[in-house]
Amino acid sequence: MSKEVEAELLAVNQQLLDAIAQGDWGTYSELCDPTLTAIEPEALGHLVQGMEFHSFYFKLSGGQVKPQNSMRDVHIRILGDVAVVAYYRLTQYVDGDGHPGTRGTEETRIWQRQNGRWQHVHFHRSPSQKT
Ligand code: GLY
Repeated sequence: MSKEVEAELLAVNQQLLDAIAQGDWGTYSELCDPTLTAIEPEALGHLVQGMEFHSFYFKLSGGQVKPQNSMRDVHIRILGDVAVVAYYRLTQYVDGDGHPGTRGTEETRIWQRQNGRWQHVHFHRSPSQKT
């Protein structure tokens, strides 16, 4: 049973990362609880609450080639109706000059089962500590 739940969580987390990469606000906002809290480099050390802060980045047009996000070293902990998904995120991208690159960040995302579906309620992203 927990393997099935882990697979569900992997799928929903990947769906969220794909929505971010594609600039797909509809999917992103459906997967998130409206009271989402976040700590991420863009917030300069502050905790941000709600969806408005995140919506800004989805309005940017982005390059022609969308980035691709994948998870490495994933660890999932299920605590009843809450789950912690921690991993290293690799983002492959093409810069403004057409050169491909990869960057990495460390992420922890918290999901809560609400009315039978996983909703994203909190995340913390840090710049990569890997050298
Ligand atoms: N900045 C949006 C997210 O990582 O969920």
